Amino acid sequence: MQVKTLGAYADKISVEPGDTIAIRVNCDEGGPDQFGATIVRLLSGDNQPAGPGYRDETVDLAANGRYPARHQRIFPGSHGIAPHHAAFETLESFTVQILFWPTTPERPWKSIVSKFDESTEHGWGLFTNGDGHACFFIGDGNDHTTARVAAPEPLIARQWYLLAGSYDADTKELRIVQRMIQPHATLPERCEATADGSTVASPHNHTAAFMAGAYNHRDNITPWFPGGHVNGKLERPVVSHGLLGDDEVMALTTGPMPEGLKDRVVIAWDFSIDISTDRLADISGNGIDGEAVNLPMRAKTGHNWDTTQHRWTDAPEQWGALYVVEDAIYDCGWETDIEATLPADVRSGLYAAKLEREGSVAEFVPFVVRPRKGETTAPLCVVMPDASYLAYANIDETFDPGYDFQFNRVARMGPDDLYQNDHPEIGMSMYGLHADGSGPHYSSRLRPVVNFSPTHNSLWQLSADMHLIAWLEHEDIAYDMITDEDIDREGVDLLKQWPCVMTMSHPEYTSTRMLDAYEAFTGQGGRLMYMGGNGFYWRVAYNPDKPGVIEMRRAEDGSRSWIAEPGEYYMSFTGEMGGLWWHAGRAPNKLVGNGFIAQGFDWSSPYRITKQGRDPRAAWMFEGIDGDLVGDTGLLGGGAAGWELDCANPERGTPPHALVVASSFDHSDTVLLVNEEIGHMHPRIHGSINPQIRADMMFFETAQGGAVFATGSITYVSALPCNNFQNTIAVLTSNVIRRFCDPAPF
Ligand SMILES: [Fe+2]
Repeated sequence: MQVKTLGAYADKISVEPGDTIAIRVNCDEGGPDQFGATIVRLLSGDNQPAGPGYRDETVDLAANGRYPARHQRIFPGSHGIAPHHAAFETLESFTVQILFWPTTPERPWKSIVSKFDESTEHGWGLFTNGDGHACFFIGDGNDHTTARVAAPEPLIARQWYLLAGSYDADTKELRIVQRMIQPHATLPERCEATADGSTVASPHNHTAAFMAGAYNHRDNITPWFPGGHVNGKLERPVVSHGLLGDDEVMALTTGPMPEGLKDRVVIAWDFSIDISTDRLADISGNGIDGEAVNLPMRAKTGHNWDTTQHRWTDAPEQWGALYVVEDAIYDCGWETDIEATLPADVRSGLYAAKLEREGSVAEFVPFVVRPRKGETTAPLCVVMPDASYLAYANIDETFDPGYDFQFNRVARMGPDDLYQNDHPEIGMSMYGLHADGSGPHYSSRLRPVVNFSPTHNSLWQLSADMHLIAWLEHEDIAYDMITDEDIDREGVDLLKQWPCVMTMSHPEYTSTRMLDAYEAFTGQGGRLMYMGGNGFYWRVAYNPDKPGVIEMRRAEDGSRSWIAEPGEYYMSFTGEMGGLWWHAGRAPNKLVGNGFIAQGFDWSSPYRITKQGRDPRAAWMFEGIDGDLVGDTGLLGGGAAGWELDCANPERGTPPHALVVASSFDHSDTVLLVNEEIGHMHPRIHGSINPQIRADMMFFETAQGGAVFATGSITYVSALPCNNFQNTIAVLTSNVIRRFCDPAPF
């Protein structure tokens, strides 16, 4: 099998003509010492035997050429950090405390909170000791002289503990006190232990960073990096002068600093402050704010969440936990290898940096060139669904043991899958799980994303959307392109420049500003072509201060790979309720007429034109098509209605005047009703027996002469290239584009 030996990402996903894009590349060690880079316009992607094949067009640029191959590392793991501060230099006897909710307490030598340099073993901290116990550890940096004391009772996963480690500089005694926040009948609520540290000189007098959830590492390649990441929730780390008693330690766990202890506290981070940001607020008065690195999950319930409140913005003091995991990554922070300035006259569309290295398949870093602000170059605008691409970024379905059952065929592995297997540090998708089983709340594009590629071997998202691009290019249909990110930033003012806006095959993840923009657009005469299935389904949030990342909570209901914890349905970036748009009162049916009903991945079906499809309001779209069937061929499953299906449902908000112009039929028994549509479980959930399981193709007019066309199927666009682009779906889509780009009002 072919392999891939390079990974890359760009600083931007959407650029204007004349803009510069920076490409960052890691070449695996041991291969050729150069790679080639070419900026290309992507014309077609699917290289599989029946597919239209990969095609591109080189953009003539000075940046195209050879570049030296170099290795760039990724340091995953979320944590909090503050650099060394003079206030730590006055410490002698001291107490370090933290609230800890472990998820993998058995992992050896992970830092719960510490100021510790691993290479010299200088410093102090609370760690997990490898036997499942919490441990207070000191080292003087002198020939690895250390001392430690472990709490006698083991840590139990998913229980809140208050840990306090203290060091008596006079007697050299170490002490750890461990208390359970919620007592359980036969478990000791409190335990403590002491140890002699007299062989160790002062653990102070070093400049290691203070960190929650990690500690200072170095090796012969990198002089400093965070390592030893713990998994679980951390709350209110505090370091104080002197030896604190139980009541004093407890008094420091919530609220402002108690008057009597104020002068003794060196640092006290309150994670319930500035939850939407990376700031870790120090409330000690010393101003030692920290920074949250690699997006630890915030707006997570704290030890004091009393279940009477569910929205963190109403009582932030109950959401003081910082959830850290060893495999989170936000921004790899690599050096730039290629800076490409696009020509001032480059056409809007889909582009990529194509990176080629001998012995490796090509690596692609796709991006959109949008028209200059305030300009359009075509009546049709295609939206690249980068929010959905992010949610699926690095999905590891090939290695999922459930794949064969869900897809009713064996998984097929490609070079991207092998690269991901060899490079787990590039992080997972929102369909994966963190190392401790928790659901990823954030996903970033500032890292290599193996399936953000026009030639990815599994045809899903971008690789499947290339069928739409290939058809538009083959038919010479003029189009502009923008991204979800652009719509999130600029709203309806961006969309309303075009008469007709078109989605791609699977725009599943939508922010509030995006949905507002689409609703306003169709409400003021805009024409929307929804070319996919399971669209406008989950609510996500972009972060105005952090580029390239979305947040999502798989709250309460929906077809989901993990389930949000109670009390954690509201997003940290915006305070908005996460979950299904349906449950937020804005089901996709309201925008596009249909909404998610079923999924299954063995074969795709045709649509049959309905009586409503012959209504003069809609009949024009089927001109040139003989008979009642459309979409009986397709590159994904052999039909245009498959993978994920949407149907009309007036209860969810399908407009009463909407026409179901065609409906799919003949779905297999692996096409199953989605669980959110099932009240009590029943056996009629299969495609062959449940009449709800169908894609409804919709048409309806909107205010001021606008209109909506909705396909309700992910595989629809993959029917477009069939039979050398001559097929019923191509005829239908051409008819709709022509009419939707015509300014005559509906
Ligand atoms: Fe989906």
